[in-house]
Amino acid sequence: MIDLKMDLLYSRERISTEITRLAREIDRDYQGQDVLLVAVLKGSLVFVADLLRALKVNAAVDFVRLASYGSEMQSSGIVEFRYNLETPIRDRNVLIVEDIVDSGYTLQALYNKLLIQKPRTLRICTLLDKRARREVDIEADYIGISMDDGFVVGYGLDYKEKYRQLADIYLVKP
Ligand code: PRP
Ligand code: MN
Ligand code: MG
Repeated sequence: MIDLKMDLLYSRERISTEITRLAREIDRDYQGQDVLLVAVLKGSLVFVADLLRALKVNAAVDFVRLASYGSEMQSSGIVEFRYNLETPIRDRNVLIVEDIVDSGYTLQALYNKLLIQKPRTLRICTLLDKRARREVDIEADYIGISMDDGFVVGYGLDYKEKYRQLADIYLVKP
């Protein structure tokens, strides 16, 4: 299955520990309220499933499909909305769930699009934050792991649609 050269970067145990911590932070901040998780497909599919199950606060889930990478290792900077939310978000607590923030283009496009629909609150949760690579001014409110530069796969993250199925996160060797 593995045909790229890669090294284990974050184990399933480490990921699980960070998700438990994130869930407690989110539970605390939304105590007594409902939250709508807006997961960005496809990369966040595994993360949102685990995060959802770790939350105690009442959480609903909906999906958007955005892509900027195509088959490249670099963001094209052009964010394509392939499909949108089916849930109205006006006056709701909305939490965007991403697997990784890199240049920030994907998140910025989504954040601005959701903001004009007047949610009650709009925050961002990302499993991985590659801050050194940021090209636009956007920060996540909940961060699983801050990482250095490098292309990662597994736990939902792909290279040319492969390796999403790996349970751990790997750093691809150049
Ligand atoms: C990846 C990743 C984030 C985005 C981050 O998605 O899942 O959504 O890129 O990059 P950025 O901060 O530079 O915009 P991708 O476009 O590869 O689509 P996918 O989730 O379907 O793999
Ligand atoms: Mn993505
Ligand atoms: Mg991708």
